[in-house]
Amino acid sequence: DARTDLAGRRVLMTVGPTREAIDPVRFIGNRSSGKMGYALAEALRARGARVTLIAGPTSASAPVGINRVDVESALEMEAAVMARAADCDLFVATAAVADYRPVCAADSKLKKSADEMTLRLVRNPDILARVAALPTPPFTVGFAAETEDPEGYARGKLAAKRLSLIAANRVGAGPGGFESDENALLCLWPDGGRRELPLMSKPALAKALADLIAERYAKRDAT
Ligand code: C5P
Repeated sequence: DARTDLAGRRVLMTVGPTREAIDPVRFIGNRSSGKMGYALAEALRARGARVTLIAGPTSASAPVGINRVDVESALEMEAAVMARAADCDLFVATAAVADYRPVCAADSKLKKSADEMTLRLVRNPDILARVAALPTPPFTVGFAAETEDPEGYARGKLAAKRLSLIAANRVGAGPGGFESDENALLCLWPDGGRRELPLMSKPALAKALADLIAERYAKRDAT
C-alpha cells in the first residue's frame, strides 16, 4: 500500500545548498533552491516515513511533520549527518554540497586593496559516499546533475559511491533543474536497472521518485 509502505522507516535526508565562509560576511555557495528535496521529503512522509532533514540555507520552509536540523557549511552538514547515519533505514542526499571550501575563513571582513586576489580552496568530504561506506549502510539514494551524458556519469557515480539508487538530471539545457519548477529524472540502480521519469512538476516528480524508492527499498536484499 502506497500510503504505508514506508511506515515507521527512518529517513535521513540532506537538502539545499551549503555555504562555505570566506569571511564573516561572504561565502561560496550555489543555486540550489532545495525544492526537489523538500518535495521528496513530503512525498516520503506521506508514505509513512519518519523524515529528518539536515538542511542548508533555503527560503523554503519545512513541511509539517518533518524534523529539520539547520546547518550552513558542508562540514556542519557532514557532522549532523554522521551523528545520525547509524540510526536510519534510508539516506537520501539531495543537497548541493559545495565541492570546495576556503582553506580557512578570515576572522574579520576582508578589505579590498589589490586588483587581484586568490582564494585557496580545499575539497569538502563526500557526505553521501561516507554514509554508503559505513559497515552496515542504510539504503542510499543519490542525485547527479549533469550537463552531458547523464546516464554514463550517473552509472559511474552509482558504482563509485556504492549507492542503492541514483537519480540523474540534465542541467544547463532546456527546462528542469536548479530553481526551476519542473524536472525530469533518469533513475539507475545496480545490475543495470533503470527507469525514466519524464518532465513534470517537482511535487509530481517527487511522488514518482518516492514510489520508486519504496519499490527498490522493498527489494533491497534481492540485488
Ligand atoms: O559527485 P557529485 O557531487 O555529482 O554527487 C552528487 C550526489 O552526492 C548528490 O546526491 C549529493 O547530495 C551528494 N554529495 C554529498 N557530499 C558532497 C558532494 C555530493 O553528499 N560533498
